[in-house]
Amino acid sequence: MKKLFTVLVFSTLLLAACSNHSNSTDVSENDTQQQSDKSRKDQNVQKKHEKVIKNGCTYIDNILIVNKEVSLPSNFNPGENPESQQALQKMFNQAHKENLNLYKISGFRNYQTQVQLYNQYATRDGKKAADKYSARPGNSEHQTGLTYDVGAVGSDKNLYKSFGDTKEGKWIAKNAHKFGFIVRYPKGKEKITGYQYEPWHLRYLGKQTATKVYDSDQALEEYVGLK
Ligand code: DAL
Ligand code: ZN
Repeated sequence: MKKLFTVLVFSTLLLAACSNHSNSTDVSENDTQQQSDKSRKDQNVQKKHEKVIKNGCTYIDNILIVNKEVSLPSNFNPGENPESQQALQKMFNQAHKENLNLYKISGFRNYQTQVQLYNQYATRDGKKAADKYSARPGNSEHQTGLTYDVGAVGSDKNLYKSFGDTKEGKWIAKNAHKFGFIVRYPKGKEKITGYQYEPWHLRYLGKQTATKVYDSDQALEEYVGLK
């Protein structure tokens, strides 16, 4: 009887120990899993970006950055970038094949042109309103030579938000990245870019980068880790 008692007590202790052991294994596996999920997230959040400033121009991951906070020197005057011009033409040709007639409304603008434009808008609408749709001199992507405002031939929606609802605007939104462009000021990203939705303002990044930005659903500022 004493022996049976000892065996019973011993097996109960053993079972308890096993079950404790297996519980503690489960917890620690969960911990490890949660930790690796967390560090994966942290890595994404803290994805390293390489920032280089060259001749007063800021590049992040080799992308020339121009926005409300990051400006270009007033003497930065590269003219229109030939590669982006060719890409634009290719995009227009493809659109034409699909019976959509797109054209370039505005491309490269030098610093002085932006001075005149901004002043004109600020005089007309006040600075606060102008700042929502016009860059200040030195802060316009048009000064990079990599940016175009596009429109539909004969449309009264050009340079209005409603351009985004036209078949040409929808085509641009869906296809521009295939030619290396992004819609730089997307709808819903106004707080991030600092500008109103501009379905016509395209920034050339090259096909690979433009496709990555497009697929990310991020504004360029988010994509390069600025916001
Ligand atoms: N419309 C854009 C923000 C520019 O002026 O460059
Ligand atoms: Zn523009």
